[in-house]
Amino acid sequence: MSSSNNSLDNKSKAWSARFSEPVSELVQRYTASIGFDYRLAQVDIQGSLAHAQMLCEQKIISSEDFVQIRTGLQQIDQEILQGHFTWQLELEDVHLNIEARLTHLIGDAGKRLHTARSRNDQVATDIRLWLRLSIDQTIAQLQELRLGFCHLAEKYVSTIMPGLTHLQVAQPITVGHHLMAYAEMFGRDVSRLQDCRKRLNYLPLGSAALAGTSYPIQRERVAELLGFDGVCQNSLDAVSDRDFAIEFCSSASLIMTHISRFSEELVLWMSPAFGFIQLPDRFCTGSSIMPQKKNPDVPELARGKTGRVNGNLVSLLTLMKGQALAYNKDNQEDKEPLFDSADTVIDTLRIFTDMVPHITFNESKLREATLRGFATATDLADYLVKKGMAFRDAHEAVANAVKYCSQQKMDLADLSINDLRKACHVSDEMISDDVFQCLTLEGSVNSRNHVGGTAPNQVIAAIAKVKASISK
Ligand code: ARG
Repeated sequence: MSSSNNSLDNKSKAWSARFSEPVSELVQRYTASIGFDYRLAQVDIQGSLAHAQMLCEQKIISSEDFVQIRTGLQQIDQEILQGHFTWQLELEDVHLNIEARLTHLIGDAGKRLHTARSRNDQVATDIRLWLRLSIDQTIAQLQELRLGFCHLAEKYVSTIMPGLTHLQVAQPITVGHHLMAYAEMFGRDVSRLQDCRKRLNYLPLGSAALAGTSYPIQRERVAELLGFDGVCQNSLDAVSDRDFAIEFCSSASLIMTHISRFSEELVLWMSPAFGFIQLPDRFCTGSSIMPQKKNPDVPELARGKTGRVNGNLVSLLTLMKGQALAYNKDNQEDKEPLFDSADTVIDTLRIFTDMVPHITFNESKLREATLRGFATATDLADYLVKKGMAFRDAHEAVANAVKYCSQQKMDLADLSINDLRKACHVSDEMISDDVFQCLTLEGSVNSRNHVGGTAPNQVIAAIAKVKASISK
């Protein structure tokens, strides 16, 4: 980050004429953002091209100047893409680096690009353009991941597993149903991002430093050229608002929260104490001391990274809370948390998209664990209710039976019909042979056959719905 490829150096900063001494090296380093905002270069050039075209159409600059600006910016774009561009710390940020290079390349025309514009509305535009792209990528990745969940759910659509509450066996469910719960969560994440995109897609440019500009600009034209849905309606708000970044970081936190919950389950399920799943080796690592170990590193790290993404959200909220209108240099601090959340989320989603379809479930372990926990006790209570007992009494009757079975180290389905009647303290006509249907795991899941229920039929329908919503 040094050697000059442009005409501005430390002695001739864009704003230097007013100053009688240069900033210290430390202050220069402290105030510069080029170390991270270079990532806005492509969208900065895109924004400048649209601004220059509008200036030309409005006859604020000549067509000769516009042609030169366009050629110069296109060259700079290439230099950056090919890694030939030299970023200079002395030039503070991405905007001044590009402008200086432009003026170096094309002379006076380059100095006219900043007419009717300030870095304040420029950077606000750049971040929106950058984030819009990032949101589109994240949405596409979320949909891929949801398809991965659908694929795995199809494979295990009727596989029985213990449904837990309080981490205790509650009722039998299907693996497919459990997996599709995540497809729902990530579906809401998609719609949150779509929402965030809608609100951010307005153009700040034209607000200039804070109050607007006296040139006869056409903001709607720039908005159209850049694919915005309209223009920001208040210049003060436009240059200082970072709500959209906060909304994105909040959505990112929720995405990571969902990833983190799933990760926690994967970690538990992979522990030999559960033995429910295996993850492909490429998502795990070994231990440097214990040769037998295969650790679920990817889910653990994803759970851990949720913390930094939550931290980024709090950083941005805190960054904004004390700022008087309009732009303040504080806002330069918006980029690193935003970039970090966007990067962490997209990387995590890519890895999970690769991993999820390759998770394998151990069906016999799952069945064993389900059988161990009196998972069909509620079904027995419901059976007694259907025979005319009040639910509270049925609950009590089955609790007695569970107590008896625990003492005898037996399952409800292992009891003879007479023992079952006795254990429940009910008369003979309350329990007949058909009771054993509802005590089986399959009978239990099949009976929950309504929208949102765990019956394989319903899971198949849920998968179809999610797939249809994605291909729309
Ligand atoms: N690098 C600055 C930022 O990220 C650009 C805007 C600077 N504006 C200013 N008035 N100093 O916010």
